[in-house]
Amino acid sequence: MRDREVGGKMSSWLRSISNLSNASRTGATWIGVAVLTVAFPWIADTQAAASSGQSRHVNAQRLQVNLEKLSEFGRNPEGGVTRLGFSQTEIDARTYVMGLMKDAGLEVRVDAAGNIFGRRPGTAPLPTLLFGSHIDSVPHGGNFDGTVGSLGAIEVIRALNDGHVTTRHPLEVVVWTNEEGPHFGISALGSGVAAGVLGPEILDRKDEEGLTLADWLRRYGQDPAHLTGARIPRGTLAAILELHIEQGPQLYETKVQIGVVQGIVGLKRWKCIATGFANHAGTTPMNRRKDALAAAAKDLLAVRDVVRAEPGRQVGTVGYIKAEPGAPNVIPGRVEFPVELRDLDAGTIERMWEHIQQRFAQTDKEEGVETRCAVINDIAPALSDASVQSVIREAARSAGLSTADMPSGAVHDAGEISRLTPMGMIFVPSRDGISHAPQEFSTWDDVANGTEVLYRSILKLDKQMNAR
Ligand code: GLV
Ligand code: MN
Ligand code: MN
Repeated sequence: MRDREVGGKMSSWLRSISNLSNASRTGATWIGVAVLTVAFPWIADTQAAASSGQSRHVNAQRLQVNLEKLSEFGRNPEGGVTRLGFSQTEIDARTYVMGLMKDAGLEVRVDAAGNIFGRRPGTAPLPTLLFGSHIDSVPHGGNFDGTVGSLGAIEVIRALNDGHVTTRHPLEVVVWTNEEGPHFGISALGSGVAAGVLGPEILDRKDEEGLTLADWLRRYGQDPAHLTGARIPRGTLAAILELHIEQGPQLYETKVQIGVVQGIVGLKRWKCIATGFANHAGTTPMNRRKDALAAAAKDLLAVRDVVRAEPGRQVGTVGYIKAEPGAPNVIPGRVEFPVELRDLDAGTIERMWEHIQQRFAQTDKEEGVETRCAVINDIAPALSDASVQSVIREAARSAGLSTADMPSGAVHDAGEISRLTPMGMIFVPSRDGISHAPQEFSTWDDVANGTEVLYRSILKLDKQMNAR
């Protein structure tokens, strides 16, 4: 109920904001810069230097080297990576990243959900400023999703060390476990556990090989019985920040350097099983079949029809289809497919799902099959904190970078942690808006820009935030 209210408020708020022209706001920034430049010529130098990287605190080259090294873990011949959450490939990559954290002087610990934290003490007894992302990928994914925010966070610590900068708040870099979720079907798993949204009910979930989540946590060196020990107690965080690639086309197409995220979509995911009757493909007359695959084919088009039936930014996807027994001469008797719906308003997701279920029931009747769906993932929409957004905007502008406010159609770990503490996200452009694919790419300059904005945002928050 509370989530629905938040989602409802957020979507009307975001819709009204998205009516403002990003271009005009960006334009206003540059007009402002031009006016200031005439009056104070040295400001122009700073702006130009920041854009060309000269006045950055973060070391763009060091970050690039580390990201390129990380991209070797799970590299695919066609480019990109397959580094699923809970896999040996990810274990190896985690070891590499923990080494980077230690090299940066961080005190490293792993919680019971497998989330990795690296701590840098503050000078005052204040709650922690937390920032980071994830290093797992989707199958055949890209090299920038999650990794930029994870290694960018470590680079911020390196830059603070290089400048001998101390902070009042303790700083923690975090690398969340299994953000993507194809393995076990749960996105933002580690952050969901840390936020108290997920608990021991997920431990018995089995993967394709029959291993449970509990088995995998043991492989990650954790005791699943202590899973709830990974919950972050309320009041211990000052804020959560996440740097990430946009994964969509807005920044790239409008040539804006930094996205300030206003809110993150909610996501609900079901696993559906259509059960028919496996029978001989040559001898069973067409009017006597219970073809589960024919039913599933109608169902997946019904998902698309329902999602498209009303205006808005809502999306719906059937990401795979598995037919059994899977032979050309057998009518499929059982089909598994997921349904995933996303929107900034949780109420819209529920409404779409009701319509989809009606369409599935109709297909069942027409095809003589039975389709059952169970929820496997439910992530509520999340709002960014207004004052954290302002800090990010100011940080970007202080570095001479243009900004646009925007919603996120991808889910992020920071969204789950926003249930505990003020949240903000920094986006950098994705070439051609491509993500979750080997072609995913952000320029090294954009990666460094985003990291510099993270650096400046952390320092601004450290100055501005009082103890809670
Ligand atoms: C994660 O990238 C997601 O939005 O699925
Ligand atoms: Mn991501
Ligand atoms: Mn992703």
